[in-house]
Amino acid sequence: MDKFKKEIAVKIAQVIKLRPEEMESYIERPKDISNGDYSFPCFRLAKELKKAPPIIAQEIVEKLKDEKIECVERIEIIGGYINFFVNKEELAREVLTNFYKKDLNGKGYGSSDIGKGKNIVIDYSAPNIAKPFHIGHLRSTVIGAALYNVYNYLGYNTTGINHIGDYGTQFGKLIEGYKLWGNEYKIDEDPIGELMKIYIRINNLCKEDEKVLNNCRDNFKKLEDGEKYCVEIWEKFKNVSLKEFQKVYNLLGSKFDSWNGEAFYGDKMQEVIDILEEKGELKSSQGAKIVDLEDEGINTPCIIVKSNGSTTYATRDLAAILYRMRTYDFDKALYVTSYEQVLHFKQVFATAKKLGLKEKYIKGLQHVSFGMVLLPTGKMSTREGTIVKLEDLLNEAIERAKKIITQKNPNLENKEEIAKKVGVGAVIFNDLSAGRVKDEVFDWDVILNFQGETGPYVQYTYVRTQSVINKLGKLPQITDVNFEKLEDRYSQEILKILYNFGEILEQVTVKEEPSILSRYLIDLAKAYSSFYNENKIIGETEEIQNARAYITYTTGKVLKIGAELLGMQMPDKM
Ligand code: ARG
Repeated sequence: MDKFKKEIAVKIAQVIKLRPEEMESYIERPKDISNGDYSFPCFRLAKELKKAPPIIAQEIVEKLKDEKIECVERIEIIGGYINFFVNKEELAREVLTNFYKKDLNGKGYGSSDIGKGKNIVIDYSAPNIAKPFHIGHLRSTVIGAALYNVYNYLGYNTTGINHIGDYGTQFGKLIEGYKLWGNEYKIDEDPIGELMKIYIRINNLCKEDEKVLNNCRDNFKKLEDGEKYCVEIWEKFKNVSLKEFQKVYNLLGSKFDSWNGEAFYGDKMQEVIDILEEKGELKSSQGAKIVDLEDEGINTPCIIVKSNGSTTYATRDLAAILYRMRTYDFDKALYVTSYEQVLHFKQVFATAKKLGLKEKYIKGLQHVSFGMVLLPTGKMSTREGTIVKLEDLLNEAIERAKKIITQKNPNLENKEEIAKKVGVGAVIFNDLSAGRVKDEVFDWDVILNFQGETGPYVQYTYVRTQSVINKLGKLPQITDVNFEKLEDRYSQEILKILYNFGEILEQVTVKEEPSILSRYLIDLAKAYSSFYNENKIIGETEEIQNARAYITYTTGKVLKIGAELLGMQMPDKM
């Protein structure tokens, strides 16, 4: 909640005897600070008051002379706009005491309980077993985790689901290949690489030999029916793959509340088919069963059962919706995947409507899509072309970070640990730094630039705040702060940014857009860099030193909170 905005709205409403909440919704935050901190556009009242906007502005300001707004130190009229300048000392007091209170009770500045009683389900990461964890899965993992953390911080009840791709006819083929040649491959050494080879080989054989193809189909059927041998092999594939994925998750620090993958819905799809059948939504088309979605404005029907009798990725997603609705009673169910799956989710959500779900659930379904990650050619692409082993990519990030750190600060202790935080942090921040729908170019020099708009820059600024506090030798106390000493423009710039933190976090959830937070951290880090360059912190009068130390402490904490919400870790030195 924006306290100042509310105060201004209430007073405006009072002097012109109109509705406070509506007045509040009219108030804007000007982009250009020379237009004040808040601006009230009077033209929105012109019709109702039957007067020209500049006249309304004059009248309101005249009346506000008797009805002072406490937080405002100056009012200006520009045409039909009234611009309000918040009292500088008041801003400092508001931000820092608020910060102090939250800091004290351990809740964290910017946290809230606006999400209390609301359930958010986030489906993210979801790599496919026996296939590489690719850079698109990395982006899903990072975006999903950031949303998860922010929702949690705002008091929502959040569930993170890793909807592993562990089901489908391809496993019938893999099982057949394994039966035939399993002992020729070193599956334990390089599980995913070797399983891929088996898959390619069996696929080729299937094209030549109908009998083999039929065996593969049988295997999948047997797997579905729970036949011991097939289930055992499938479980082996799954285990070795998950072990591989876990290496990436360990580097990223990823955790999930549920690992229910596609196979989990193996016995839950019949219900979907039954409901659709009963509602008369299922049509036969060339041996397959489909749902027509023309009436929903989608030209491609959703295939529920293929002509060979097997279910689809979409059928499993529909079963998952029913399950999640019953298990989590979700207010929002988010799906974080690349925009390649836009049509898939449109179809699934439209078909879910036809299952007769309540409006609440239909509305809650949202595809959080993101753009591609474009790799520069060269070392990172392997023989397969664009497939990069994610574990290698993260390890390379760590290596590169280590080199840079060593150059800058040869005597640093714990280099390994710090390099891990910086390298992985750089990759994470890069994934979150542009709007998610944008394609992103992955360029080492850009993402690891300590002076750029990067993760390492945010970390570096944080480290700077910590070294100021270390130099002081003691934590600054709010009781020592004279708020009048924070009226200079550099302190004010920081305070304005800090004031918005809660609002920014809300925006992240409204738009499902973590880049709003990464952008914010860059702005805060830049504001602190200017403050640091222009303002002497230590060695001025004690009053100034205390005030500046406190703002330094606050900035550091907020940078850390924000970075951690994005899934990064903060080094104390670098
Ligand atoms: N396994 C899928 C892929 O790699 C992503 C799954 C996304 N989640 C879902 N419920 N469909 O493309």
